[in-house]
Amino acid sequence: MIKMTDEKIKVPVDQNFNQFKDQFAIEWEAKRTEDYKEYRRKWVENPKDFILEEGPLNLDIEVTNCCNLKCPMCPRTVLINENIPVNGEKLKTGFIDFEFYKDIIDQAVDMGVKAVKLNWLGEPTMHKDLANMIRYAKDKGIIDVLINTNGLFVDEKLAEGLIKAGLDKLLFSFDSPYKEVYENIRIGSDYDKVISNIKNIKSLREKSGSDTPLTRVSMVLMKENADQFKDFVELFKEHVDIVAWSEYTNKEELLGEGRKRLKREKIKNFACAQLWQRMFVTWNGKVVVCCADIKMEYVVGDAKKEKLKDIWKNEKYTNIRMRHMEGNYNSIPICSVCDMPEFDEKEQK
Ligand SMILES: C[S@@+](CC[C@H](N)C(=O)[O-])C[C@H]1O[C@@H](n2cnc3c(N)ncnc32)[C@H](O)[C@@H]1O
Ligand code: SF4
Ligand code: SF4
Repeated sequence: MIKMTDEKIKVPVDQNFNQFKDQFAIEWEAKRTEDYKEYRRKWVENPKDFILEEGPLNLDIEVTNCCNLKCPMCPRTVLINENIPVNGEKLKTGFIDFEFYKDIIDQAVDMGVKAVKLNWLGEPTMHKDLANMIRYAKDKGIIDVLINTNGLFVDEKLAEGLIKAGLDKLLFSFDSPYKEVYENIRIGSDYDKVISNIKNIKSLREKSGSDTPLTRVSMVLMKENADQFKDFVELFKEHVDIVAWSEYTNKEELLGEGRKRLKREKIKNFACAQLWQRMFVTWNGKVVVCCADIKMEYVVGDAKKEKLKDIWKNEKYTNIRMRHMEGNYNSIPICSVCDMPEFDEKEQK
């Protein structure tokens, strides 16, 4: 039985993202199919009304958790540098097996998944089959296939492969308009190379005759780059469709050991949209409910042993949704230390 509170639970959607879109991006959205628009409508409406589909709207598939960079703010870097256990053991790194990936996509299509994002912790362009995986998802009818990338490997050859495969959204992470600051945040990267890769995309897309992928460059706003967004927009606005910044999530605190972790004040009447929108599958099949469960403390299933549609509605998943619906998200340990509810508070001020 759910004990609903008297006050309406608020379910903020994408509240920590701030973006400037150019005309191309505005028209791009308008030109999408009715299916796409329906999926975007559900993305906003389903969590607000706690509507649960047969499967998630978006499946995040971590094609690899390997990475060519060591960005200090990234949870992956912290996990590795500090040897923090994940799902109770040392983090295993690797690449998704293509046959397993195909099975996941087939199941996703059967349960009505509309979008797949091909990364979580790691750099998707390190997977040798990335373009083939994108093509497979597109051929099976996934409406929105997207990746986040640090962009270092997205040279002309790879970019052409991704465009040809039908990638819908190419989202670059690039944390400062200034070389020195950038290379101090994106450790192991090369400012000039990535800028050149990003600047090439528009003409390659034009050459292909396609209007996909939609492109975005975003920075995570931190103390090192807090006053740089204006210059950031100037640097990229002619080259990509969207320039954006997102809130920094303090992973060191979130990942800290045991009870030394930050205990946050409970925010009244919050429920997390991700529980009705997304599901995450790691390269080796572990399933978690959200982007914030970095240490995989709330694993809801194993895609190597169970069907995704069964995991989506199983007891453990239902339990976390119920706690959120009754205004009691704080009773779930990972949610009690998560900063997602606080982003909502900031929005209201
Ligand atoms: C973990 S990365 C994986 C994909 C790819 N390697 C990349 O850098 O885009 C996904 C996104 O998380 C962002 N990110 C990394 N650390 C973060 C933090 N502490 N808070 C918020 N976002 C963060 C990155 O900038 C990137 O846009
Ligand atoms: S490139 Fe992406 S995954 Fe790799 S360390 Fe940086 S933010 Fe993390
Ligand atoms: S930890 Fe809880 S509140 Fe935070 S993103 Fe995950 S489900 Fe949402």
